[in-house]
Amino acid sequence: MNILVTGGAGYIGSHTVVELMNAGHNPIIADDLSNAHYSAVDRIGKITGKVPTFYKVNCACKAQLRHVFSQHKIDAVIHFAAFKAVGESVKKPLEYYRNNLDSTMTLLEVMEEFGCKKLVFSSSATVYGPNNPHPYKEEMPAIQSSSPYGWTKVMNERILTDYCTAHPDFSAVLLRYFNPIGAHESGLLGDDPNGIPNNLMPYIGRVAAGQLEKLTIFGGDYETPDGTCQRDYLHVVDLAVGHLKALEYAAEHNGVEAINLGTGNGISVLELVNAFQKVNGIKLPYVVGPRRDGDLPAFWADATKAKQLLGWEATHTVEDMCRSSWNFAKKGV
Ligand code: WQD
Repeated sequence: MNILVTGGAGYIGSHTVVELMNAGHNPIIADDLSNAHYSAVDRIGKITGKVPTFYKVNCACKAQLRHVFSQHKIDAVIHFAAFKAVGESVKKPLEYYRNNLDSTMTLLEVMEEFGCKKLVFSSSATVYGPNNPHPYKEEMPAIQSSSPYGWTKVMNERILTDYCTAHPDFSAVLLRYFNPIGAHESGLLGDDPNGIPNNLMPYIGRVAAGQLEKLTIFGGDYETPDGTCQRDYLHVVDLAVGHLKALEYAAEHNGVEAINLGTGNGISVLELVNAFQKVNGIKLPYVVGPRRDGDLPAFWADATKAKQLLGWEATHTVEDMCRSSWNFAKKGV
């Protein structure tokens, strides 16, 4: 199938494009490169042997999106394109609401115009907010978040749910990611944010590569076994395969479906740091500092529904995630 992948030059998007090509699909990337590099598209070509079709597109611009749909018969869309830095969203709420909501609504309008009725949406565990018990289950209220970024995911889920109610022949799968880390085994694709990383694993990679002095662990006094926060870290390639499975599900079903993509296990910051040091034979300089505002002590997925509905489960180990992260970071690509 011809699959439009918005944000397909990004961290998760590029790994998903590789899995789509491995499965024989024809992914078409639409990315404005605001938080990605065109080099990722070339690297996909090195991995798969074919450089995917690429358009520099701002998904909030209807004319640019219409042009892509007029060039290809798009069978389905995987919608990654969004601003995604939690801290930045607190400082720039309007930019986040404008970009992340306009892009989804514009995409739906253009999909309707061209008769494309299958969508996989990049959502996030952040929609569960601070009040649900973990492990998070899809039927729990997903109606609040702790940042404008997270609120755009809650609102986009609402927009897609209401759109599916109004259009019963439309299919939307809302994938709620937990904490994607790791990199493609080639070391050519990985999490390479602009500037100083907000997220744990890319920050660890920069420290290990000597580009940053030390890691600060945000808080060592939480009510967790070792005092540091626990998260459900999953390998980005497992996550990418989950999108393929979601696409196959959307092709056979109508309506809206929220599905967690996680391992179902909680790992603490300290456990991840120790695993990284052990598997890569690296001593990682770190200090334990104050808590970071907005962090929850612990959450992870109930991954049952993905297994039952998609036949998907995470297969990579923490060691795989740490090894592949370092294999990417040390190349300094
Ligand atoms: C993980 C743990 C930090 C950096 C966020 C978004 C979520 C999703 C994934 C987009 C926490 C600790 C981190 C550091 C640290 N993003 N940490 N030192 O906050 O669970 O989730 O990224 O979809 O929506 O909320 O991920 O990697 O930032 O933090 O100690 O330098 O690592 O306190 O406990 P998080 P994270």
